[in-house]
Amino acid sequence: MPVTFYSMPRPPANLLFDQVKLRFLGVVPGDQVRGLVPFYHFRILIKRTTDVGHINFRIGDTEHVRLCAGHIGYQVEERFRGRHYAFQACCAIAPFVRSIYPAVILTCDPDNVASRKTIERLGARFLDEVPLAPADQIYHPGSCVKRRYEWGLCAEQP
Ligand SMILES: CC(C)(COP(=O)(O)OP(=O)(O)OC[C@H]1O[C@@H](n2cnc3c(N)ncnc32)[C@H](O)[C@@H]1OP(=O)(O)O)[C@@H](O)C(=O)NCCC(=O)NCCS
Repeated sequence: MPVTFYSMPRPPANLLFDQVKLRFLGVVPGDQVRGLVPFYHFRILIKRTTDVGHINFRIGDTEHVRLCAGHIGYQVEERFRGRHYAFQACCAIAPFVRSIYPAVILTCDPDNVASRKTIERLGARFLDEVPLAPADQIYHPGSCVKRRYEWGLCAEQP
């Protein structure tokens, strides 16, 4: 049975990797009108208390997830960049993601080098580049193509 908003399990408390710990803030409901799925929202902490950004894990397999947003979204505040915290956050969330999906889609804009390198450091497999649907372009101004990867979460991968 696919996981839905009503059956989304609570994530474990101890999602850690290297310098990063994730703090679960809650589930953000989807928005059917905009085709958005629900997602788990985590803050990315270093030294257990300093908040450096966030990571979201989307639940669903809609066209918007597969061709635009991907299952995982992250952001690191500018002053904390340059230390691979997004990579570490992905590694920290991996066991929880793996408990729900055997593989997920990760996407980035072709010119987003930091995100692209983060995804490639994870060992995700490049799939293709796809044009953004007109509806998605409204919410992602300036973005018209997405690079898509499959992040297969086998036990050996981070
Ligand atoms: C994407 C993001 C989370 C990465 O932050 P981070 O974990 O601090 O990543 P880093 O700064 O350590 O960069 C990762 C890699 O990209 C490289 N990089 C970062 N910015 C770069 C740039 N402008 N040009 C070239 N390379 C760059 C780094 O040198 C590093 O390379 P390495 O793996 O060879 O060492 C951060 O840039 C961000 O929040 N961006 C805005 C939000 C965003 O784009 N989210 C992703 C949406 S798909």
